[in-house]
Amino acid sequence: MKILGTGLFGLIGSRVRELLSDKYSFGDISIQNGIDITDKKRVFDEIKNSDASIVLHLAAKTSVDGCEKDKKKDIKILRYKDIKRQEEEWFKEKTAWAVNVYGTKNVVDACIQSRKKLIYTSTDFVFDGSKNLYSEEDKPNPINWYGRTKYEGEEIVKKSSTPWIIARIAYPYRANFIRQDFVRILIEKLRKKEHLQMVTDHVMSPTFVDDIAYALDGLIKNNSTGIFHVVGSEFITPYDAACKIAKSFGLEENSIAKITRAEYFRNRAPRPFHLALKNDKIQSLGVKMRGLEEGLEEVKIQRSKFKITS
Ligand SMILES: NC(=O)c1ccc[n+]([C@@H]2O[C@H](COP(=O)([O-])OP(=O)(O)OC[C@H]3O[C@@H](n4cnc5c(N)ncnc54)[C@H](OP(=O)(O)O)[C@@H]3O)[C@@H](O)[C@H]2O)c1
Repeated sequence: MKILGTGLFGLIGSRVRELLSDKYSFGDISIQNGIDITDKKRVFDEIKNSDASIVLHLAAKTSVDGCEKDKKKDIKILRYKDIKRQEEEWFKEKTAWAVNVYGTKNVVDACIQSRKKLIYTSTDFVFDGSKNLYSEEDKPNPINWYGRTKYEGEEIVKKSSTPWIIARIAYPYRANFIRQDFVRILIEKLRKKEHLQMVTDHVMSPTFVDDIAYALDGLIKNNSTGIFHVVGSEFITPYDAACKIAKSFGLEENSIAKITRAEYFRNRAPRPFHLALKNDKIQSLGVKMRGLEEGLEEVKIQRSKFKITS
């Protein structure tokens, strides 16, 4: 089976390709291949000319604080009455709205036109964190611009007439990649005995990237449609996660200090409080989503097998 991906050079996409290449052949729409998803015509041509039956849409602007900085400019462009002028601005500016909403609309419209199934990767940040536990049926209410743009992407996908899956992901980590994730940043800082301030009043559902790849495979094999929470099975604060990482990698915990969200994220994009997402829907397909402790064990195994030290 053929899959046409967007953003397959990223943290998640590159691992999906590594783990699933024996089952699927991948085509790629990406900046690295000279294709920008804000280039409507190019996206339409690529999707139309591809013989893949599925489009896996991962490309996004993912920096939460970077997206927040785009908010003012996005609101200004959104006020333009002239759609053509708006589209020109999205192509030129590459803001959060340009990539995450307009870019997603281009991918969705091209999938509708070419009758391809779409898998859209979204985020736990579509929720405001005020609820104890979120299921797929809960209504999103994003509180920062990254979450808002990803949610707008979800809405475009949901309204489309092509078969779709929305896979919501949270705090992905893996054994190795050129860009560091929160686990590898913490390993490095703990090794250097750097003073760490870790938030105590935020709860997250960290997700081992390999499990995301297997979950996507499960969704494709089962011919699923709809929304799925593709997240890890453990809810934890960043402070407790740092302590767990230290223990797991035999590093000292005494450089880890406690801090609140309000202090840590001062002058940055607001973060939701309690992002615990239920994942029983994806696990009912026979896909195992590991908790942080189990995920860290596998990270350790892979890092020692491939002698990864960075
Ligand atoms: N990382 C997280 O914490 C997280 C959490 C929840 C959900 N997600 C979602 O999961 C998906 C994948 O995330 P990730 O962590 O793999 O992100 P990533 O490492 O930032 O990868 C995103 C990829 O998209 C590409 N891209 C950005 N703008 C583009 C454009 N205009 N046209 C074409 N390609 C473009 C990037 O290319 P460049 O590298 O050249 O910019 C990169 O290869 C995203 O949809 C994200 O919203 C991520």
